[in-house]
Amino acid sequence: MPLAGKELILGVTGSIAAYKAAYLLRELRRAGAQVTVVTTAHAERFVGALTWRTLSGRAALSDLFDPRSEEAVEHVALAERAHAVIVAPATANILAKAAHGLADDFLSTLLLAARCPVLMAPAMDGGMWAHPATAASVATLRARGVTVLEPEAGELASGLAGTGRLPEVEAILEAIHRLLTPARDLSGERVLVTSGPTREPIDPVRYLSNRSSGKMGHAIATAALRRGAEVVLISGPTSLTPPPGAVYVPVQTAEEMREAALQQLASVTIVIKAAAVADYRVKDPRASKIKSSKTEGLTLELVPNPDILKELAARRGRAFIVGFAAETGEVRASGAEKLRSKGIDLLVANDVSQQGIGFESDDNQVLLLDRWGGAVELPRMSKLQVAGAILDRVLALRAAAAPAPDPARPHRRPLP
Ligand code: CTP
Repeated sequence: MPLAGKELILGVTGSIAAYKAAYLLRELRRAGAQVTVVTTAHAERFVGALTWRTLSGRAALSDLFDPRSEEAVEHVALAERAHAVIVAPATANILAKAAHGLADDFLSTLLLAARCPVLMAPAMDGGMWAHPATAASVATLRARGVTVLEPEAGELASGLAGTGRLPEVEAILEAIHRLLTPARDLSGERVLVTSGPTREPIDPVRYLSNRSSGKMGHAIATAALRRGAEVVLISGPTSLTPPPGAVYVPVQTAEEMREAALQQLASVTIVIKAAAVADYRVKDPRASKIKSSKTEGLTLELVPNPDILKELAARRGRAFIVGFAAETGEVRASGAEKLRSKGIDLLVANDVSQQGIGFESDDNQVLLLDRWGGAVELPRMSKLQVAGAILDRVLALRAAAAPAPDPARPHRRPLP
């Protein structure tokens, strides 16, 4: 569990979006965090203490002078124990109080005592968010190192549209993960990730594709972002939400993916090609829907798609190139051959015929083969953990082997 061992404080202030903090709390607990909820007096009018106690397994704190609560006088100790304080939703009022160092209730006092990272997810009316007073509070807090998320645009509680909605729970969670990820060892890197399947049209309503869900590619993008990289995510059609902060380039066909990837190549330092590119496309996709015919069969003429990975490797410049190999049996031998024939630096090979790993699943088990002759077999783990291991390996290999100007004649250095 990624947040196991983390002590968090979840501050909840008086906004209708307070109910969303209950979802956030549940997700934090699912990720393994211990959470103490601290509410303001107004927040209690939106969501009751019983909800917080049930979801967190701890009494929610609110009153600095509550004689029944021992913790109430322990705001300093609580602030010292916490790995992070999250305020979600954060009203204009708490932003202003925190910016000015006011401490007239439990939450504001705790914010003044906290020395750990603080993250605030604002939610308010559009006019309040746009007000210069709020803008000044946010600027002060950010200058002080507080992470203040941008609220989202959309329908507000007032019924009006505007910017002021609490960011989605997934976006807040992702920001918390980044806040708590100590290794920022990819800052300064720009990582290009391709993900998902491609879709090759047959006619306006039908296509050829494959079973790729995009989970592996999206996990790599998420892991790289958490470690401080800039990420460009070129993705075929998937049902996944792109990780917040990634430059997201949606594509459909292999040719669109090729074009988008080549456009980015010169600006990136690492390329990770997790996409399952369709090897063939229909030679002449029909402009109108193919009618069913009960008597005749149908023959489609297919032509090969360009090998994007090979082309990226040939034109790599300074970029470190990682490819994937979906194999069924004989993983090591065909992986080694693919590594060589594509001219890449690292190959992530997996056996997609095995149950519970590879396509559509949350786990993966891979073999990492590099062009300096290394082979690392990883145990089965979550795709996010695999993503982390791939990034670790890229950094280790790049540090050990100076970038070879001629891919055909790799340098030899002691390897990790
Ligand atoms: N790939 C690509 N362009 C293609 C086909 C594959 O860039 N037209 C990339 C994939 O993104 C992946 C790697 O090549 O990183 C290997 O994909 P895979 O489907 O395993 O291999 P193929 O090259 O298609 O070889 P085969 O299907 O014969 O095993």
